[in-house]
Amino acid sequence: MANIVLLGAPGAGKGTQAALIKEKYSLPHISTGDIFRKNIREGTPLGVKVKAIIDKGELVPDELTIALVEDRLAQSDCEGGYILDGFPRTIAQAQALEGFSKVDMAIDIAVESEAVIKRIAGRRMCKCGETYHTSSYDREDCVKCGSKLYQRDDDREEVVRERLRVYEAQTKPLIDFYAERGLLHTVDGSGGVQATFELVCKVIDGNC
Ligand code: AP5
Repeated sequence: MANIVLLGAPGAGKGTQAALIKEKYSLPHISTGDIFRKNIREGTPLGVKVKAIIDKGELVPDELTIALVEDRLAQSDCEGGYILDGFPRTIAQAQALEGFSKVDMAIDIAVESEAVIKRIAGRRMCKCGETYHTSSYDREDCVKCGSKLYQRDDDREEVVRERLRVYEAQTKPLIDFYAERGLLHTVDGSGGVQATFELVCKVIDGNC
């Protein structure tokens, strides 16, 4: 299949689209944010190291993140392709990735900042991995497992502002990085989840 990188601002819908791609194309979904949050929940040494950084909306150091992704991509389930969500996030990470894997396409989910702020403000999470939005789901428990939904610590307004600043300064340059390599595909992510997914599928189907 394909090695896919998902780009986009915080809250653009990378995780939502990655879950749908995973289902339709049977590719592993690798989210560095999810890996860090799982380690924080479980109180591992990695979790302890990254918690304060993530809570401030800053980036985890490149060396640590790169080593983690290199290890993960070496696992056998990635042999037939993968979806990277939240990595790379800096030029240094993208350059390192070129050293241990070949990216087939980078899909940028383009959404205006106003919209991503609304999406993040209404996002609710479940510990089982499901993500909801208060505009379309008004219950406080997860429909899949019944657990109580919660808001991510880094979804507080002041942290979101910092995450958007970091995105503009450090992650947005990846759009040019992948465009220069002829790998960039931009999809309009301002429509609904399914409308965006149709655009994403067109890109994947046209490039596999
Ligand atoms: P990470 O978890 O990667 O956060 P992020 O990139 O900020 O992205 P989000 O998870 O906030 O948003 P998303 O684009 O996945 O949107 P979602 O689908 O949930 O990283 C968190 C932190 O970890 C970073 O700040 C950093 O500290 C650290 N980190 C992670 N990776 C790192 C790396 N490589 N290097 C260094 N540090 C790293 O959707 C958002 C909401 O909108 C949901 O409620 C959803 O239901 C809703 N929604 C989705 N799509 C639509 C749509 N089309 N229409 C309407 N609503 C929608």
